[in-house]
Amino acid sequence: MSSQDIPEENLPAERAADEHGAVSVADEKHPFADPGLPPHEHRIQDIDERAAKRSERAVAFLFTMSMLATVGFIAAFVAIPVDEIVYIWPLGHISGLNFALGMTLGLALFCIGAGAVHWARTLMSDEEIADERHAIEASPEDRAKVHADFKQGAKESALGRRKLIRNTMLGALTLVPLSGIVLLRDLGPLPEDKLRHTLWRRGKLLVNMNTDEPLRASDVTVGSLTFAKPEGLEEHDHEFQNEIAKAALMIVRLEPKDIKDKRELEWSHEGIVAYSKICTHVGCPISLYEQQTHHVLCPCHQSTFDLSDGARVIFGPAGHALPQLRIGVNDEGYLEALGDFDEPVGPSFWERG
Ligand code: FES
Repeated sequence: MSSQDIPEENLPAERAADEHGAVSVADEKHPFADPGLPPHEHRIQDIDERAAKRSERAVAFLFTMSMLATVGFIAAFVAIPVDEIVYIWPLGHISGLNFALGMTLGLALFCIGAGAVHWARTLMSDEEIADERHAIEASPEDRAKVHADFKQGAKESALGRRKLIRNTMLGALTLVPLSGIVLLRDLGPLPEDKLRHTLWRRGKLLVNMNTDEPLRASDVTVGSLTFAKPEGLEEHDHEFQNEIAKAALMIVRLEPKDIKDKRELEWSHEGIVAYSKICTHVGCPISLYEQQTHHVLCPCHQSTFDLSDGARVIFGPAGHALPQLRIGVNDEGYLEALGDFDEPVGPSFWERG
């Protein structure tokens, strides 16, 4: 539909269409009176009030959907239990609460955005206006002044005379970016499979991180949370920070009858389970244990893991369960590892490839 189809009296008096249909605010003397734009196509909503009404209703519908989705978000937050797991194809078993919150909030935001876009495209002002811009180039007088100021500055700094200063300054300015380039070295070499192995080996004793004493099975009581490291790893060791970040353990004693996961039970010792302390989201140390529910919580982004069910994720952004370390006791009653973790510890993205 072109502007020629619009009665001239329907256009604003000071913005009449030219012979191409383009609308301009310029008068005859204005240099942008004809900006050379292609003929302007008016929207159906500009010339048909019923079409405009339809667009208005569509925008109102989208905003209403957004309101309903927000009400749904609040209802889901109140009504769905935190630990409810649902099966959603093709996502599999996921937290019902997370799914409901994500869907409703996503819908609420999408509808606001879609409504605003539809409103802008169909109902807001659609005039093409030529906007005059001034020349970017400075005037000859301004350029001459800058040139003179620069020469004056160079003269006052005596750079031309003080060649030693000039040369050393150029040398310093040339070299200083090299420090940034040198830091790039820290990006390599690739870790390859180093992230897949920890210090845990068959027969390594579990040492209490607080007391530095090897842990006996009898030291671990129901309801307590103990942090452990491999024997032989001391704080003054060169590699302590790297190794502790991979090998740190959480030790908890559960009632064997409360352990739902069969493999977890087999890898435990009389209900004592050992899990990586490093959250599988982005690697914060997990530190909160709720004895009644057997849940552990990561303080960084609230990922929650169920220690009575293979430490699977029941809430939060973590991508997968905490890795379990298989443990037993030696002849003297000390807890010992029966091997390394059988999967990488820490953030899920280590598993790539
Ligand atoms: S690091 Fe644990 S939830 Fe983000």
